[in-house]
Amino acid sequence: MNFPYVEYTWLGYGTVIAIIAIIHVIISHGVAIGTSVLTVSLEYRAFKTENEKLDELAKTMAKWVLIITTTVGAMTGVGIWFSTTVIQPDSIGALLRIFFWAWVTEWIVFITEVVILIIYYYTWDSWKSPEKKKKHINLGISLSVASWLTMAIITGVLAAKLTPGKWIDTFSFWNAFLNPTYLPSLGFRMFLAMMLAIVVVAFLLRLFVKDLSLREEAFKVFGVWGAISLPMTFILGLWYLWSIPEQAYDMIVWSTGMTENTFKIINGLAFLILIVFLVWLIRSPKTVPIILSLAVFGASIGFIGEFEVVRESIRKPFIIYDYMYANGLLYQNQEKINEEGYLAHSTWIMEKEITEENKVEVGREVFAGQCLSCHTIDGWREKRALGKRLVGWDEEALKTYIPTMHNVRVAMPPFMGTEEELDALVAYLKKEIDEVNGVKEVSQSE
Ligand code: HEC
Repeated sequence: MNFPYVEYTWLGYGTVIAIIAIIHVIISHGVAIGTSVLTVSLEYRAFKTENEKLDELAKTMAKWVLIITTTVGAMTGVGIWFSTTVIQPDSIGALLRIFFWAWVTEWIVFITEVVILIIYYYTWDSWKSPEKKKKHINLGISLSVASWLTMAIITGVLAAKLTPGKWIDTFSFWNAFLNPTYLPSLGFRMFLAMMLAIVVVAFLLRLFVKDLSLREEAFKVFGVWGAISLPMTFILGLWYLWSIPEQAYDMIVWSTGMTENTFKIINGLAFLILIVFLVWLIRSPKTVPIILSLAVFGASIGFIGEFEVVRESIRKPFIIYDYMYANGLLYQNQEKINEEGYLAHSTWIMEKEITEENKVEVGREVFAGQCLSCHTIDGWREKRALGKRLVGWDEEALKTYIPTMHNVRVAMPPFMGTEEELDALVAYLKKEIDEVNGVKEVSQSE
């Protein structure tokens, strides 16, 4: 362990990150990028067809993009970095070393995006003459480009975690940034963002815009974007899938917690209603049923959640593939740590020597350093809550199992440390398992 740690005893690390990240992805993709593009598209159509009402609608959309991006969007964006820095300090440290300038640039681009967004919204009514309106539309286009750029930068960092590619050997920034899944995942996310925006905004318009001809005009524009985006999302998604490591690919269904069949049925069904929705939107924009709109809305939000969970889970046991494990330990250090000890390789550790008295305490630190990133003792995800999962295991069984568990459960990094450290970990686990399951401590005098 090189940093202090916090414990989210019931939620677990993964859940904390997932909650913040899923909200952020919905907003960054669906609102900041997707809805910005839809807004300026509606504004353009309103200008071309001299439709005052459509222009007003676009303005309302711009207002909500402004409000949501600068509040929940920005807070969850920063929230991701805060939570991951606290939960995964070693990995964020490693990523910072590689991507330092990318992160600096991303921040500047984000500020630019927000400034453009503010100007875009607040000049809506004053830039009305045809000359000025053209300028205003160009401003909207620059907004879309700026919000896309933040994605284009951050995707380099995210994709490198799964496929660092040549970086492993060269340590070159560009090898890391332009890694094997960079282009497919960027393309996939781009069109996914459009689809998400179409589905979410269409649902809201279906609910709140009563003027049928106005809604029809908006839906026509959405239909055009949808006809481009849905096939592109699908094709680029396949390219993305083909570019990931085989072991990761094999973990996709497992990581959703569904059986193969349920997974296929649910995702197939979601895709099908999306197609029905889109065809309806294009062929008969006036009559899109609210129930269909609600169904695709739910399916899309569900898909984003699934995508994020899968993307994070299939990287296991790594946090940066073939380089760093999810618990922050380096792949290449395994032998060294087994020989010299985990404590000796930890800069932030309370106990440096193991004695009979502090054994459980040391075990707790080993657990925090090597297992806490994926496990809780008593959390809501029962498979990961070791207290319940290990009920009935005695110390001998644990001692034999832990050093070899990564061979059976490929999602787990190998345990690293000496015999004594393993003993300490087992002593700690045993105590926790007994506590969770209400086993009374056997007193020494017996
Ligand atoms: C990268 C995440 C990760 C880390 C780190 C991790 N595990 Fe696991 N572990 C898992 C997952 C996922 C499972 C569930 C596998 C399944 O159910 O298919 C699991 C299952 C287990 C099981 C049950 C195994 C079984 O066969 O029933 C034990 C025991 C266990 N882990 C112990 C540990 C210990 C001890 C550590 C720390 C030294 C640790 N794990 C670190 C992800 C992790």
